[in-house]
Amino acid sequence: MPDPHAPDHSALLRRSIEVITGNQHPSGAYPACPEYEVYRYSWLRDGSFVAEAASRAGAAGSADAFHRWSAKVLTDRSARIEKLVAAVRRGEQPAEGDRLPTRYTLEGEDTGEVGWWDFQLDGYGTWLWALTEHLARHQGDHAPYREAVRLTIGYLAASWATPCYDWWEEYADQVHGATLGAIRGGLHAVRASGMAASVGLDDVCADTVDAIDAMIEERGLFDGHLAKWLGSKQVDGSLLACLTPFGNVPLDGPVARATVHAVELDIAQPGGGVYRYLGDTFYGGGQWPVLAGFLGWHYARTGRRDDALRELDWIAAQATAEHLLPEQAPGVRLQAPRRLPEWEERWGPNATPLLWSHAMYLILADELGVTP
Ligand code: BGC
Repeated sequence: MPDPHAPDHSALLRRSIEVITGNQHPSGAYPACPEYEVYRYSWLRDGSFVAEAASRAGAAGSADAFHRWSAKVLTDRSARIEKLVAAVRRGEQPAEGDRLPTRYTLEGEDTGEVGWWDFQLDGYGTWLWALTEHLARHQGDHAPYREAVRLTIGYLAASWATPCYDWWEEYADQVHGATLGAIRGGLHAVRASGMAASVGLDDVCADTVDAIDAMIEERGLFDGHLAKWLGSKQVDGSLLACLTPFGNVPLDGPVARATVHAVELDIAQPGGGVYRYLGDTFYGGGQWPVLAGFLGWHYARTGRRDDALRELDWIAAQATAEHLLPEQAPGVRLQAPRRLPEWEERWGPNATPLLWSHAMYLILADELGVTP
């Protein structure tokens, strides 16, 4: 007898691809969420994972378009990047305006908006990683991307140790574990693919990866697990990406095991779902489908298939009747329910559909061989 409560993965998988390709701008950019005023921009963090999902799920052309858009965003800013890299080489502090933002208009322009939590480095590392995965999967040509990759490596090598906003656009005065992890993941990926060597920056990547590893070992661990920021005792859901997919540490080694254990103890829920971190108050501080996706992805890679399937089912259970996935799960226990109204009044209901949520669902389904 079919289980009447079983999630309809088939419908949600099909809808997820539609949401991603249907909302892609002709430029190639993906908006974070088309229905949510302040998310009608393209973030490199969200977009890179969305492109990874498209690349896996039969929409390689969509991923190509996103990567071409990203490469243009970077090469259009080559003067700014070269200026920053040269300033750092001279031992100077780069000018605020020479740093790259975290998000762009869908046409690839700076948003010009003052006051957004804009200086974030992780998206550039994630882009290098997603580009490498995509080109390897589809035997794509490296040549059109070399200049953008060269600029990105230079930018990250010059900036990686600078405090910046984290994945959640918070705590700008810290150096975050997940930011370092994304940068390391991207630099490692372009080395392994030979792209770093082809632009003459293999040594720069290797030195930066080593320096990040040394920094993590010295200040980025607490109680054996990766820490939210250097010197912090807390864990954060974004750290899961340092394990899978970025592979910063061996997946069966002590740091990965301790990090998953800390996540399970503090922020993951036994029935599925993950909070960002303890003490989160954004929209009341609920559970995030994207993080259930990362946890499931890691479970899938480490032989915990049933746990991975539970996260996949949990994500599917957060979809609306129209098969749309939100940024935060509806109807779960919030950490700070009294803080929900202030965000709803400011920006409206929780962002839906969030393309990144759909992307993580597609990636996890692909890892598990769940098809429409
Ligand atoms: C999240 C970011 C995300 C952005 C767009 C923010 O609220 O904290 O991680 O990139 O929304 O989805």
